[in-house]
Amino acid sequence: MEIKAIRGMNDILPDDMPKWHFVEQTARKIFRLYGFSELRSPILERTEVFFRGIGDDTDVVEKQMYTFTDKSGTAVALRPEATASVLRSVIEHGLLNREPIQKLYSIGPMFRYERPQKGRYRQFHQINIERLGEDGPLCDAETLHMAYALATSLGLAGVRMEVNSLGCDDCRQQFKTALKEFLREKEEKLCTDCARRKNTNPLRVLDCKVVSCKQAVEGAPSIEDFLCEACRVHYHEVLAALDALGVPYEKNPRLVRGLDYYTRTTFELTAEGLGSQNAVAGGGRYDHLIQTLGGPDVTGIGFAFGMERLIMLLPEQVQDNRGCFVVAQGNATVQLTALTLLKALRSVQIPAEAVFGKSFKAQMRKAGKSGYPLCVILGEEEIAQSMVTIKNLQDSSQVQVDMAGFVEKVRSLLDK
Ligand code: HAM
Repeated sequence: MEIKAIRGMNDILPDDMPKWHFVEQTARKIFRLYGFSELRSPILERTEVFFRGIGDDTDVVEKQMYTFTDKSGTAVALRPEATASVLRSVIEHGLLNREPIQKLYSIGPMFRYERPQKGRYRQFHQINIERLGEDGPLCDAETLHMAYALATSLGLAGVRMEVNSLGCDDCRQQFKTALKEFLREKEEKLCTDCARRKNTNPLRVLDCKVVSCKQAVEGAPSIEDFLCEACRVHYHEVLAALDALGVPYEKNPRLVRGLDYYTRTTFELTAEGLGSQNAVAGGGRYDHLIQTLGGPDVTGIGFAFGMERLIMLLPEQVQDNRGCFVVAQGNATVQLTALTLLKALRSVQIPAEAVFGKSFKAQMRKAGKSGYPLCVILGEEEIAQSMVTIKNLQDSSQVQVDMAGFVEKVRSLLDK
């Protein structure tokens, strides 16, 4: 019986690979422009990293984590996001002691047991950045600008940025009290999760996607009215710097995000063409997370893009097919010479392929399908004259050239 991949976990097939490479290369280029370095953390972590980091009242931790006990009895989880894992690594290796400002990016798979649909998978990939040890609104604005720059460099259409401030512990506490008060009257409209969370973590109710919960929070107090003076100034300065950088944004006082670690600036990017799962990126500032995870009292900000959603939005890529096929017909000497021709082409960075053990006809068919513009043909007659035939696979024209100079000729034809 055929074995299939697990629901919500996708194979990425060769046809799609140029898009994945384009997204990764563009991200690496942008991050380099802003002085970020790569950090790779393991896919599997102690479950505790995410319990402590993300908050045990969130959907991600409560419902969506792949957890199990390994053979040594350790409770482990497939990472549902990169932030907590990257910070665990930074703390463990004392990176902040060596250099108190860290600008890090990571690219890789994440795992969340969600209901799969278009744009939402159980294994998905994120491009993630974390920027540690810098405070102040300009750091936030520049970070948001970098996210916007990546989205536009990828050529996404209709990119929108929504921004909010979740305040600091003090002002958020006052907002939570007001929100709890407001939600007390709405009990019967809330889903079972929200009915419970309205007391423990009322911000989560603002993020709930259940229709009756959405209706219940209409007219709820707005965080903007509760920001303390310092948070209000910070927020306004972030917005002023975004204006100065020419980043278009909209304020959304309901944007609370699905993870519990955020303080002050939070944001999301959406793009046209994704349907209901339209967030391509999200992130924000987290002033206590590093300490919560056992590290120094250092603040941070970061964001992550969902790669599958980016890939869905890209136009078909034009494949780079610069290269040459080699077709050989004849005795063992011909076959061996073909092998050395392949080597010679590759030694000057020309992609080159042949198929072995197939008839001349089958080799020519494969050459035609290869997408390469040229094919080198070698037979016993050519060997006797120390020549090769170069065939243009697009217009079927042929030239015979000296074997000694064939690489140069192939190169000049490819560069034409
Ligand atoms: P997040 O909003 O949970 O944030 O995820 C970021 C992005 O990952 C989303 O905007 C979406 O594009 C993508 N994504 C999330 N879940 C799925 C899924 N099931 N299938 C496909 N794509 C998905 C975070 O993960 C934070 N760690 C971001 C961050 C970094 N905050 C600070 N630093």
